[in-house]
Amino acid sequence: MRRKIVAGNWKMNKTFQEADELINEIIDGLDEANQKNINVVICPPFTYIELCTDYAQESEYSVGAQNVSNNDSGAYTGEVSAKMLHSMGVEYCIIGHSERRKYFKETDHELTQKAELLLKNDILPIFCCGELLPDREASKHFDVVKQQLGNALFGLDPLDFAKLIIAYEPVWAIGTGITATPDQAQEMHAYIRALISDKYGKEIAKNTSILYGGSCNAQNAKELFANADVDGGLIGGACLKATDFLKIIDSF
Ligand code: PGA
Repeated sequence: MRRKIVAGNWKMNKTFQEADELINEIIDGLDEANQKNINVVICPPFTYIELCTDYAQESEYSVGAQNVSNNDSGAYTGEVSAKMLHSMGVEYCIIGHSERRKYFKETDHELTQKAELLLKNDILPIFCCGELLPDREASKHFDVVKQQLGNALFGLDPLDFAKLIIAYEPVWAIGTGITATPDQAQEMHAYIRALISDKYGKEIAKNTSILYGGSCNAQNAKELFANADVDGGLIGGACLKATDFLKIIDSF
């Protein structure tokens, strides 16, 4: 059975005090909420990981990182390794986010390295893919996503691939307030599942969680999550307010 997941990507937001306040508000809400077997993942900046993993011991959420080095260890000033994240209690890590592809020129090859290092250290990668607006306007969105998955992930062996979580995030929907329609999301998620099925077989495809991301919020989450192939969300802006994030979790 594939898991339902709601992950909040805090991106580069919040001071330490604000982070402490936000995580406590989320914890209070989670304690009250009936969680219906939903895996809640909080992805704070590196600086607040310890804060969030400490509180997680007493609450019902997991902690994810927003990035990881594509190197194992050593002289890479400013980088953070998968092994370090694992030692802090991190269980998930976002890779291939469009902001990292765009601003930090993350390549498919680096994403393969990151996925392998994470899996070696028992951290589940949340792999982001999605097309730019011109790609969609030119009806190339399926090809783009196929390439992103094929180039970065389809060299993994089946046992490793089976642990991945995929997040479909059309770039034109991220932070823009323009959400993919439920039909657009379902169509792409079903396509991704079919690609996985072709490559790794029906069983792995059936069990892979595919999340939607891109202006998903407390108002539209229910409609998006109601689709057969949408297994949850990767939430940006709307996860920075506890009430909104909790409402999204409650949208299943
Ligand atoms: P958004 O971001 O919800 O603010 O559109 C989603 C993401 O970047 O993962």
